[in-house]
Amino acid sequence: MKHLIAPSVLSADFANLQRDIEMINSSGADWFHVDVMDGVFVPNISFGFPVLAALNKYAKKPLDVHLMIVNPDQYIERFAAAGAELITVHYEACTHLHRTIQAIHSAGCKAGVALNPHTPVALLKDILVDLDMVLIMSVNPGFGGQQFIPNSLNKIAELRAMAAQVNPTLLIEVDGGIGIHNADSLLQAGANVLVAGNAIFGATSPTEMIAALKQVDGR
Ligand code: DX5
Ligand code: ZN
Repeated sequence: MKHLIAPSVLSADFANLQRDIEMINSSGADWFHVDVMDGVFVPNISFGFPVLAALNKYAKKPLDVHLMIVNPDQYIERFAAAGAELITVHYEACTHLHRTIQAIHSAGCKAGVALNPHTPVALLKDILVDLDMVLIMSVNPGFGGQQFIPNSLNKIAELRAMAAQVNPTLLIEVDGGIGIHNADSLLQAGANVLVAGNAIFGATSPTEMIAALKQVDGR
């Protein structure tokens, strides 16, 4: 499968959100990556339902919602109603992860689990078969514009090998510090969805940066 590019809306200009949404609509990007932060699970607060409603009104591509919140079960129905196509919860935030994944699927969404940089991929062994996607955090979650953590490459490769046994169509998304300098190595390791915030919205031409990330070979 050709890899997917998911620009992170966190790095958009919120005073010109509609303009940035239209830019993504008309670009070669595949998804909108939507970072929801609660100020508890991560030391930052981003945005919630009103902004999601605005996004959903104009976005013509799937909303890939990354929940950096405690107690996500409480809000799954609302995120589904707000237009999420994929909902990703953090492993570290879910005591009953299997139940949470079931709830996401029951709400009609695809389900993902995100791992913080310190969380081993081996912990996913008994849930992997139930997942549509795993999100490998390649920075500590909370902020855009941070530096990529190189060990993420080992985690992707290990996860891809695990998935080959039980869930070969698993999407592996990577998030944090991604740009044209490391995209190829991430794809080669086995990732197939690249999130990028700063690299895209900080580029002279975001559209051209999206095209460049999409063109990376990965073989
Ligand atoms: C970080 C978020 C990321 C962030 C990525 O907690 O999950 O999606 O926006 O931004 P960059 O690509 O700038 O590292
Ligand atoms: Zn994210």
